[in-house]
Amino acid sequence: MTAESTPDFPASAALFERARAVSPGGVNSPVRAFRAVGGTPRFMASGTGPYLTDVDGTEYVDLVGSWGPMLLGHAHPEVIDAVQRAAAAGTSFGTPSEPEVLLAEEIVTRTPVDSVRLVSSGTEATMSAIRLARGCTGRDLVMKFAGCYHGHVDSLLVSAGSGVVTFGLPGTPGVPEASTAQTIVVPYNDTAAVEKAFAEYGDQIACVITEAAAGNMGAVPPLPGFNKFLSETCARNGALFISDEVMTGFRVSRSGHWGLDGAAEGWRPDLLTFGKVMGGGFPAAAFGGRDDLMSRLAPEGPVYQAGTLSGNPIATTAGYTTLRLATDAVYEQLDAVAGQVRTLASEALTEAGVPHVAQAAGNLFSIFFVDGTDTVTDFEQAQAQNVKQHKAFFHAMLDAGVYLPPSAFESWFVSAAHDDRAIERIAAALPAAARAAAAAPPAH
Ligand SMILES: Cc1ncc(COP(=O)(O)O)c(C=O)c1O
Repeated sequence: MTAESTPDFPASAALFERARAVSPGGVNSPVRAFRAVGGTPRFMASGTGPYLTDVDGTEYVDLVGSWGPMLLGHAHPEVIDAVQRAAAAGTSFGTPSEPEVLLAEEIVTRTPVDSVRLVSSGTEATMSAIRLARGCTGRDLVMKFAGCYHGHVDSLLVSAGSGVVTFGLPGTPGVPEASTAQTIVVPYNDTAAVEKAFAEYGDQIACVITEAAAGNMGAVPPLPGFNKFLSETCARNGALFISDEVMTGFRVSRSGHWGLDGAAEGWRPDLLTFGKVMGGGFPAAAFGGRDDLMSRLAPEGPVYQAGTLSGNPIATTAGYTTLRLATDAVYEQLDAVAGQVRTLASEALTEAGVPHVAQAAGNLFSIFFVDGTDTVTDFEQAQAQNVKQHKAFFHAMLDAGVYLPPSAFESWFVSAAHDDRAIERIAAALPAAARAAAAAPPAH
């Protein structure tokens, strides 16, 4: 059964109705509800390699990859085998176990952290890194960038990307003003704004947190030298530099985005956060950094942080196995496929006369439906998109069996399993989707 011959999705629609009766919006994470694009969210039944199959039996080429984790594609046989063996040995012990040591060693080998603490979600990682930064510096203020998303940590839910911008929320009720009052928000890629904030609040700023390359307002790479500037500015002012690599870590290179800038430029963040790929599709994340900072964590130091399922043996086995399989050849393949898909999409849109910017940060990329510029460097520009064009484009791709992020403010993710057949299917779907975008109403 193909998407073209199935205009209706009875099994997904029925599940969505049941889900809405028992869960807010019928989902467990807002963007999944398709509110920004309309229509019935597809309930997936299985995934293999670059494909997802929904409960109505329709197969899609997946360009979301579970929002980043599925670096090797779905149900990689070696990952599944390792997970099955780990599960058979027991699912959680609440004690230290070998797989978490293996995963931590792999992370320490690949990245500039001296040591790492494992947690269960990216949100937990950034929340804990900020607590540690505050605990180490004795300061309270946190600087973040508009359009960067770091999970749903209270103090970071200001001018955030991802679902927060998808739903047009300036912030969110439930976060005390006292919490966001501790957050300074500055435009992404704006060194003058960072300097101005430090001039005013320098001795109160505990840390600057940034996505290593912004991926949650679409893909917006740091301008050359921007992350180095942040690292040096923090050091000069006694603040800590937290690079959030939850999305980029182990995805854009074997050492994450730091492997693309800091490693060559000779700087390293004080703390880093990881998630997504390092869990191999299971809930595992981490924060790590310099020894003198990490040793301030309990039980070595006074900064408390803990978790019942932290370092879970199945999640860490999946993550470790995934990272061991993420060889240089895999990263070459990811870069090539990402470049190919981005170029194909951009060519189709150009052919249909749709103004856009097709932009990459390593192998993360996205299409911005913007006019009058050939680059997007900050949140304001990203928000100038014609989301109606994205919506038309998204649905035409979906109808042709290609699953894109259901929001204009998200990056596209490829996997090492995206082969010629998958790319041909994407290429075949693009011209009609580009024409649908061309026929969409103007932005305002
Ligand atoms: C850069 C970044 N940081 C943190 C998070 C939060 O991770 P999680 O959804 O696992 O809590 C995300 C999630 O998309 C992210 O992209």
